[in-house]
Amino acid sequence: MAYEFTKEDLEQIEKIKAKFPEVKPATLPVLWVAQNRFGHVEPEVQRLVAETLGLPEAHVHGVATFYTQYYKEKMGKYVLDVCTCLSCQLCGGYDILHHIEDKLGIKAGETTEDGMFSVQQVECLGACGYAPMLQVTNGKYVNHLTKEKVDNLIKALKEGKEPDYEQMEMPLRKV
Ligand code: FES
Repeated sequence: MAYEFTKEDLEQIEKIKAKFPEVKPATLPVLWVAQNRFGHVEPEVQRLVAETLGLPEAHVHGVATFYTQYYKEKMGKYVLDVCTCLSCQLCGGYDILHHIEDKLGIKAGETTEDGMFSVQQVECLGACGYAPMLQVTNGKYVNHLTKEKVDNLIKALKEGKEPDYEQMEMPLRKV
């Protein structure tokens, strides 16, 4: 599939570039523009970002693959990022991860057949005081997880309902 930015995307990219004295620091926000447009930044999209910014593909690839927040392949409608870093791990993060894996019938790094859920095991999301926690699709945090809370979250998402998140948002991920 050939990926192309829209005219609006290109205008936004020009505004982003204008904020920096050189083009490299624009890589992160422009990858967000790409992910918001295409839903992921698989290699073809990384190439488009590199061409658009006039940067080496290796640089864009390096940035995209460093962060779990950039999806390197097509993901499910909901991406559950389960933190298993130290605080979450000590508070049962692995139990939560394994419960989600069992419930959805997939392993971390996989997507359900119906395309509804992907699960990722991630490093600290900066909410250690709310451990164990997960993040839904680079947005809302669900804190102090229990198996029951996970069950309710998945049920609500399956039914297309906005769950009752106990959360905080990370505004820096918005461009
Ligand atoms: Fe899980 Fe920090 S260890 S948010």
